[in-house]
Amino acid sequence: MASRLGTQLGEWRATTAVAQSLADRIRMLLLDGRITAGERLPSERALAAELGRSRATIARAYELLEAGGYVQRTHGSGTRAALPAQRIHRPEAADEGVIDLTIASVGSTPGLHAATVRALDRLAGLLGTPGYSLDGLLPLRERIAARYAERGLPTDPGQIVVTSGAMHAMTVVLAAFGERGRAAVVEQPSFPHALDALRRTGHRLVPTPVSPGEGWDASHLVDTLRAQRPALAYLIADFHNPTGATMPELARARLAAVARTTGTLLVVDETCAELDIDRGWTPKPFAAHGPALLIGSMSKIAWGGMRIGWIRASREQLPQLLAARPSIDLGSPLLEQCIAVELLDDLDALLARASARLRAGRQAVADGLAAHLPGVPMPEVPGGLAAWIDLGGPWSTSLSLAARDRGLLLPPGPRFSSSGVLDRFARIPITWEPEVTAEAMRRLGDAWRALHAGELPDSTRLAASAVV
Ligand SMILES: Cc1ncc(COP(=O)(O)O)c(C=O)c1O
Repeated sequence: MASRLGTQLGEWRATTAVAQSLADRIRMLLLDGRITAGERLPSERALAAELGRSRATIARAYELLEAGGYVQRTHGSGTRAALPAQRIHRPEAADEGVIDLTIASVGSTPGLHAATVRALDRLAGLLGTPGYSLDGLLPLRERIAARYAERGLPTDPGQIVVTSGAMHAMTVVLAAFGERGRAAVVEQPSFPHALDALRRTGHRLVPTPVSPGEGWDASHLVDTLRAQRPALAYLIADFHNPTGATMPELARARLAAVARTTGTLLVVDETCAELDIDRGWTPKPFAAHGPALLIGSMSKIAWGGMRIGWIRASREQLPQLLAARPSIDLGSPLLEQCIAVELLDDLDALLARASARLRAGRQAVADGLAAHLPGVPMPEVPGGLAAWIDLGGPWSTSLSLAARDRGLLLPPGPRFSSSGVLDRFARIPITWEPEVTAEAMRRLGDAWRALHAGELPDSTRLAASAVV
């Protein structure tokens, strides 16, 4: 049986400096969160057999990792992955000149300061109250519900629970409806932290493919639901992160109908749903087609720093959500909710500003690809956060390592997969200012050329990082 490490190594191949290359790859998996600190790694003999390499090569790779503090070997308990905490260099955006493409999010919307000042008056009216609100401020829930109605899904404010961002919404949803030990269908690729949240709550992830041009393979998705009868399916149906694809209405309707028969709860992440550049059509939210829990957020239209999101549930689902929440937290901050109210009062302006910034970012990525990575095509990106680039071969992790040497943080494609595949792809955000993107693409081109010239990246300065 394939080991978890073997699976995560996916399409890794090397013909020269094999031990060093393998050690680099394992270190990357570890720092990237795909192998966890403390996890037991296969024995030298087992890994050698699995990868078709000599035992001496594997022993050398483990030695290199041990020298760097990335594995611990103890007699009797084998080889375990480790993190050399004090030695890890954490390149952050704050580090001199580092560009962080692990983040796909625009900076705060220009109206945020003014909205915050206006929100103070609204907050003043709440100061005498206890301040705890499990489902959120009514004026905010009213505005969120009104937007669903505009998008074709009549919604009562009582069906909304305000949360502290979409990831927190996911935590609450999984606390209420997660089923440890059961299958959860996820897109491949998908948003890494949602995959981690599903894993952490004991779900067995079952992938279904999504690609930029073609989107979902509807038959695969339906067949998987029927075959696995999963407890949950986690979907990003609009401007999917990272591919930018949107699921057609017909596919939504069909999927909702099948999910009903297989008893699968559809959890649809709408964090990116309003990030339209030029899609040319607007589908109804998933719950218009059948039962689905919707998750939304202010993070991408206003600011990630606000930490405001929400869940839209059916009236039947609501009590379970509200019962699960208090063991996690007792409500979201009121000032941020007041700011969200102010911003949603002029949603059109908010969305227009986000759209303009994404359009400029998309152009900068397309220009950068043409100039610095000729032959790597720009995919269709009608909206969303990123371009999902097909590198034409399994080079994403190596490219990511080489990019780090040049002050560019780029999450490797497999970070977006539930099973360590997708090394042919890289996600490039379209959210950064065009000047930053232009410099990032120049560095990426430099890394690309070095890689193709056969240079080995210096992976000693790797660091773990979040991907948003
Ligand atoms: C699909 C998706 N869900 C959730 C999030 C996180 O959202 P929040 O900041 O509201 O927790 C992101 C951020 O990139 C995302 O792309």
